Order: sequence, then structure tokens, then C-alpha cells
Amino acid sequence: MMVDTLHKVKLLAIFLLLSLCSLAARAEPPSLFDRLGGLAPISVVVSDFIDALGPDPVLNSNPAIDAARTAVPAPYLKYQVTAMMCQVTGGPCQYHGRDMHQAHAHLNIQEVEWQRMMAIFDQILAKHQVPKQEVSELMAIMESTKADIVVSAK
Ligand code: HEM
Repeated sequence: MMVDTLHKVKLLAIFLLLSLCSLAARAEPPSLFDRLGGLAPISVVVSDFIDALGPDPVLNSNPAIDAARTAVPAPYLKYQVTAMMCQVTGGPCQYHGRDMHQAHAHLNIQEVEWQRMMAIFDQILAKHQVPKQEVSELMAIMESTKADIVVSAK
């Protein structure tokens, strides 16, 4: 009789625990990182993005940008930007590069170059068929760095 009651109490405790876990799982919406499909698709989009920025005539008409993109290896930039995107979208990576002001201060980036970069980013997201909601969240992340990157935006 005693064993039977103990068994019932154990079952009840397990049931309660499982209910709590499923409630907790339901309360957490999937991260932007997960909705984008994780690290592999993010790295592909970043790689395409950096490849599209490199030869762009609007960006390269700024001599500081042209000099830096020639001096800094594209695979390095792809690695750093992928790590950053992974981290800020809620993924498991840790970005260890410079902060956005330090990384761009010497590039004298103007509004026109910012707009060009954002237009290219938009094109690359469209090419990879990133859904509207995720595009707007990614655009907001980019916009949040603007004041640290564009010299005239301060
Ligand atoms: C018009 C806009 C932008 C241009 C022209 C640009 C260009 C560059 C260039 C040339 C570098 C290499 C600098 C150097 O080491 O001398 C760099 C570094 C970097 N950029 Fe940008 N960038 C822009 C916007 C952004 C945005 C919006 C992000 C991310 C949200 C970003 C993330 C990074 C990262 C993570 C690095 C590497 C930092 C490090 O080496 O520690 N950039 N960028």
C-alpha cells in the first residue's frame, strides 16, 4: 500500500516536471539564429555579402575603404562578420574582434557608402530568400551599429 502511494507521488512529480518543461519550451520563441537556419546558412550569406562589397565602385571611390579592403584578407573579414552575426542573432559563437567604432574609424565612412552597403545587404538577403520578418530583424541589427560606423552619423 505504502509502495503504491510512493509510486503515485513519483509519477505525479514526473508529470509536473514534464509539464513545466514543455511550458518553458513554449515560452521561448526560436532565436533569429535558429530561424535563419544556423551557422552554415549564415556563413554563406556573409560570404556572398563580403564578395559583393569588395569590387563595388561606390564603396571603393572612398580611398580609405579601397585601401583597407585590399589590405585585409576577405576570409578574415568573413570569419569575423560571421562570428558577430552568429552571436548577435542568439547563436553559440563569441565575437572576439574589435568593436564597430574601432574597426571602422579610419575608413571615413559616409552616409552614401552606408546606404550602398545596406542596398547590397538587402540584395544578398533577397538572393538567399530570407523571409521578410528575418530581413527586418537583420536590418535593425545593422542599423544599430550605424552611429559607430558612419562618421557623419554621430
Ligand atoms: C559601409 C559600411 C561598411 C564598410 C565600408 C565596412 C568595411 C570594413 C573594412 C574595410 C574592414 C576592415 C578594416 C581594417 O581592418 O582595416 C571592416 C571590418 C569589420 N567590419 Fe565592416 N564595414 C561596414 C559596415 C559594417 C557593419 C554594418 C558591420 C556589422 C554589423 C561590420 C562588421 C565588421 C567587422 C566584424 C569587422 C572586423 C573587425 C576586426 O577586424 O576586429 N562592418 N569593415
